[in-house]
Amino acid sequence: MKILIFGNGYIGNRCKQAWGDEAVLSRMHVQSKHDALDEIRKHQPDAVLNAAGVKGRPNVDWCEDHQVETVDGNTLMPILLAQACQEAGVYLLHMGSGCIFYGDSPHEDHAWREDDFGNPAPVYSRAKWAADLVLSTLPNVGIARIRMPIDWKPSPGNLIDKLASYPRIIDVENSVTILDDMVDVFRQLLEKKAMGIFHVTNPGTMRHRELLALYKELVDPSHTNEWISSEELVGQGLAKKGRSNNFLASTRLAQFGITMRPVKDALRETMEKYARARSAL
Ligand SMILES: NC(=O)c1ccc[n+]([C@@H]2O[C@H](COP(=O)([O-])OP(=O)(O)OC[C@H]3O[C@@H](n4cnc5c(N)ncnc54)[C@H](OP(=O)(O)O)[C@@H]3O)[C@@H](O)[C@H]2O)c1
Repeated sequence: MKILIFGNGYIGNRCKQAWGDEAVLSRMHVQSKHDALDEIRKHQPDAVLNAAGVKGRPNVDWCEDHQVETVDGNTLMPILLAQACQEAGVYLLHMGSGCIFYGDSPHEDHAWREDDFGNPAPVYSRAKWAADLVLSTLPNVGIARIRMPIDWKPSPGNLIDKLASYPRIIDVENSVTILDDMVDVFRQLLEKKAMGIFHVTNPGTMRHRELLALYKELVDPSHTNEWISSEELVGQGLAKKGRSNNFLASTRLAQFGITMRPVKDALRETMEKYARARSAL
């Protein structure tokens, strides 16, 4: 299978590294359907992964004041790419985000299902939800929503590196995505040309406190941080808007025979690998 990846960023590069010669990582900044069609016709892929997006730098608060760029990268570009894929007759797997959901779902277990409606307020999350609304109407398109990527490879985008670098942290509980599992699931979704929305999160939930306890045990016993409340995060000026914290139920992967490791097992194994990778640096 030949996979064409759009989005030369954290996840695009992680997928390219995992898939090797099977994947081509495009360096094109797509601004029109014709841009995307040219690139697709040049590479003749069996499937396309859209790992492009605008998350804001240094963080998502940037999007609150850069609405046009945020909508361009997270709503308009995915629609243009989807139009190009439709015209070329190529399957598209688009990367969505679980941050379109805020708080508890209306279901008894409080977890959000793939077909639940999003309830986002921040600009970034609204732009991602808008793309999901449009792309989920199209044939030959899959949407893979991830949450809080965790990996054994040190990187500024890795939740382990992020939490380890913050002096003050909120202890929230979330669904998360272990990247070793994610690249494997994406590969299978692309192979199966699986349509519709998928929650690509490991079964179970994780608290920030659990991740940092493992970090202390396996990576840096001298690590310390202060714990603060979600209200203090905004009150102390550490974030402009409250962050999305939620649980995602992954109900559709199983329909395609795809499984992910329970988060507790995957997190420990990932932290052990992370410790080895860090000490080899
Ligand atoms: N990482 C996370 O925590 C997370 C969580 C949930 C969902 N996601 C989603 O996963 C996807 C990948 O995220 P990431 O962490 O890899 O982000 P990233 O590191 O910021 O990479 C995104 C890449 O997309 C590129 N891009 C922006 N507009 C583009 C366009 N019009 N055409 C082609 N490329 C364009 C960016 O290039 P420039 O920087 O040069 O503009 C950047 O290289 C995004 O859709 C994001 O919303 C990420």
